[in-house]
Amino acid sequence: MPDRPEDGRSAIWGGRFAQPQDPRFLAYGRSVQWDARLAPQDIRGSLAHAQALHDAGVIDDAQAQALRDGLEAIARSLSSGEGLHTLPQDEDVHGAIERLLGPAGEYLHAGRSRNDQVALDFHLFCKESGEQLAGAVRELQTAILRQAEAAGDALVPGMTHLQEAQPVLFAHHLMAYFWMFERDRRRMLWAAAQADRSPLGAGALAGTGLPLDTMATAKRLELAGIYENSIDAVSDRDFALDLGHAAALCALHLSRLGEEIVLWASRPFGWIQLPDAFASGSSMMPQKKNPDAAELLRGRAGRVVGRLVGLMLVLKGLPLAYVRDLQEDKEALFEIVDTLREGVLLSAALIDAAQFTPPGVPQGDLMLATEIADHLVRQGVPFRQAHRLVGQAVRLATTQGGSFLNLSEAEWLAISPHFTAPALAELLDPLRAVARRAVPGGTAPQRVREQIAQGHLALQG
Ligand code: ARG
Repeated sequence: MPDRPEDGRSAIWGGRFAQPQDPRFLAYGRSVQWDARLAPQDIRGSLAHAQALHDAGVIDDAQAQALRDGLEAIARSLSSGEGLHTLPQDEDVHGAIERLLGPAGEYLHAGRSRNDQVALDFHLFCKESGEQLAGAVRELQTAILRQAEAAGDALVPGMTHLQEAQPVLFAHHLMAYFWMFERDRRRMLWAAAQADRSPLGAGALAGTGLPLDTMATAKRLELAGIYENSIDAVSDRDFALDLGHAAALCALHLSRLGEEIVLWASRPFGWIQLPDAFASGSSMMPQKKNPDAAELLRGRAGRVVGRLVGLMLVLKGLPLAYVRDLQEDKEALFEIVDTLREGVLLSAALIDAAQFTPPGVPQGDLMLATEIADHLVRQGVPFRQAHRLVGQAVRLATTQGGSFLNLSEAEWLAISPHFTAPALAELLDPLRAVARRAVPGGTAPQRVREQIAQGHLALQG
């Protein structure tokens, strides 16, 4: 392999420079430590571009064959782990691969700039990453579905303001996460589709002057289309922000799930028994079993959102067309994609292995207050009045052990003649309360079973 350290004069762009690059700038400007990760995409793009050059008659059979052989050899050596050690002397992955190609590489860059080249690599990466993340989210959804099925008709206190509000099926609560992640999965696939086009042919910005069939190249790369505008093609990073946004929302959802797992694992809740494999101990308190995994899911959302905001700020106010600021895109998105993928897969494994212990809701619990008010409404009492009457019953019950069961028949009837013993027997049963919430999307067992069936269907699409 020829040795061509990119010190400026000897860089791929070195012809017009008399002085070497200052080592401080060399180090500051180098991106190969990050973008080496794009080597597989870069090689795929170069194979397609070499074919386009050959098809256009810009290079001959032998040159095309030499490029193919060279690129495939580099791909092999990179995937076997060799070759990477030769990259640190280069400015970026594009220069590195061209250097590794040797004399054959001298023909490759016709009709192409690193501006459309890096944009293509990044499109390919974002498309693959969106699809992979969607697959990871699917695993999490599958784990949630399984646990929702296993939970059957078990009840938990549904919360508002983190205060006990109304009984709900635990499966219903879990399924709320399923649908949040279903939207995430759809957004990731949508983001992958936003990256599904090729900027090649844009050249530096104005479009190449060589007769390259850019649509054929896009097809060869299994990309759905090309850009309408070469300046947009090299300047656009919207597709990366789309993926970043899909990932940031998913990270927010993971953080909410993480927070709930932390709560559920605490003694006052006790809704989840964390498997040892996903818990940590204390260095001092021998009895502790801490939900660190869930805490990290909650905490790491900051990284994903922060990286997205950071990338948006890089893009803010940039002039057209390519500017070097755009180099900052990769490190940000790599961290977003990696952090999220690890978080999603960790949650899937944790949910799958967890044992849920929904506490149920006792007969006569104050969470049934709305049922009792609804009963008065069915008897023709205006709701606001019903609310006040049941409020009186709640006030009385809180001085008598906090349960409606402790109120006497006389106390009920003194509040309203509609509070007969047979009516109350119905109203104070939490299972009947949930069964009544049979609106589509409600927590009635029948509706939740339908919801789980819809969930299975959604995952097939
Ligand atoms: N390393 C650069 C990047 O990631 C590649 C493109 C450089 N182009 C240029 N004209 N300096 O954006």
